[in-house]
Amino acid sequence: MRICCIGAGYVGGPTMAMIADKCPHIRVDVVDLNADRIAAWNSDELPVYEPGLDELVREARDRNLFFSTAVKEAIHAADIIFVSVNTPTKSFGVGANKAADLRFVESVARTIAEVAESPKIIVEKSTIPVRTAEAIHSILAADSKGLRHQVLSNPEFLAEGTAVKDLNNPDRILIGGEQTEAGLAAVETLVSVYANWVPRDRILTTNLWSSELSKLVANAFLAQRISSINSISALCEKTGADVDEVARAIGSDSRIGPKFLKASVGFGGSCFQKDVLNLVYLCGHFGLPEVAAYWDQVIQMNDWQKRRFAERILRALFNTVTGKRIAVLGFAFKKDTNDTRESAAIYVCQDLLQERANLSIYDPKVGAAQICKDLAIQADNPNVEFATSAQQAAAGAYALLILTEWDEFRELDFEAIYKSMLKPAWIFDGRNVLDHARLREIGFKVYSIGKQAAHEVVI
Ligand code: UDX
Ligand code: UDX
Repeated sequence: MRICCIGAGYVGGPTMAMIADKCPHIRVDVVDLNADRIAAWNSDELPVYEPGLDELVREARDRNLFFSTAVKEAIHAADIIFVSVNTPTKSFGVGANKAADLRFVESVARTIAEVAESPKIIVEKSTIPVRTAEAIHSILAADSKGLRHQVLSNPEFLAEGTAVKDLNNPDRILIGGEQTEAGLAAVETLVSVYANWVPRDRILTTNLWSSELSKLVANAFLAQRISSINSISALCEKTGADVDEVARAIGSDSRIGPKFLKASVGFGGSCFQKDVLNLVYLCGHFGLPEVAAYWDQVIQMNDWQKRRFAERILRALFNTVTGKRIAVLGFAFKKDTNDTRESAAIYVCQDLLQERANLSIYDPKVGAAQICKDLAIQADNPNVEFATSAQQAAAGAYALLILTEWDEFRELDFEAIYKSMLKPAWIFDGRNVLDHARLREIGFKVYSIGKQAAHEVVI
């Protein structure tokens, strides 16, 4: 059996590395139009940072795992074709800022129709709107060769930073297919690949539409939990309740559960916002405006949380940050990844730059070039400086912001940092990861999400 995956991104690369590792009898070709990305996958400096990924790739690469730009050859030779190209939110025309832009998925379908000379199993790995399989199907059916391809939906639930762990030991694998004899046979073929390491009872099979929709709904529910706890964080700040204590208290109800209740400066990442917006668009499209409005509020709450954080900084610094140095620790959308897509840090930094603050930014895995791109600034922007350590970023600053929960930020020498900062020295902990009592002992003024010092509560 031969597998090919089109799209060597955060999802395609790690997923295929795991399949190659667990199925040494299967040849896996990962192809991408982007030659630089492929070169990086073939080098010692992989384009994606994930704990455990280097070892996995090194072991399988050039054994049964191959990275190349030979898209057509790989399609031609494959039995199963994973489609893992990006599906950004549309920025123009009908459905702008909500609907998914499917032009890459469509172009891949057309290439498959053009190149294939035998029936293929085509697996949607990218998150896509419900009923995309139908579109892929009609493109494939329109070719004149009469080949009977099968389209399956097999959404990926891995989270960045824990991709290898999630792939190795998934809660579930979801495979949707047409409920016909040929469809069910294709589902069984894909089940047999995962069954090399995933227990059968964790491989769920459904019809195509349930599988496509479940991916959007899973992300929408997760995002909703964060917006829910973040909304409560604002109430905690008004009442003197502590959001972490509230989260612990409600999370120990087994019906609610403890995960995804960490209040923060706002969720980021490539999926949550995009998928919720996509769900909102779908509901609107199908004439369900009340349902659309319900889910849209998850995004609005997240936007407000990011803005609220920046405004809190401004207020604490006497309503002006113009010309003031502010240290930004963390730029990735969460720890253990170099991914900055939709990171809350982008929005907070932009708000502060609008107020003409001077930012000194440090992230252990995100470099200056990426940060400039995200903030839409030139490398020589006089208001932004890039530090090579937290200590360096903090020196001479009025305030220090924690925007990503990197472990190393917990271990910093805060006594030394305090000495190097201007007074009053503020810390704004957007992730609630520091020991606030200790920081206050050192002399810092501390703001953290959903935890107002009792004397600061304004009734
Ligand atoms: C992508 C989707 O964004 C997400 O919705 C889905 O759940 C999984 O796949 P990710 O892997 O993070 O997520 O995307 P990205 O890192 O942008 O990788 C996509 C790759 O596809 C890029 O390397 C791009 O060059 C490649 N691509 C895109 C092609 O090879 N051909 C195309 O026609 C379009
Ligand atoms: C998410 C889903 O978890 C995954 O199943 C899906 O395949 C892709 O989208 P990812 O975006 O990689 O994964 O990261 P996730 O761990 O879900 O975090 C998303 C954002 O929410 C991050 O910015 C994170 O910091 C934030 N978050 C998460 C919180 O603010 N509080 C929490 O309790 C959990």
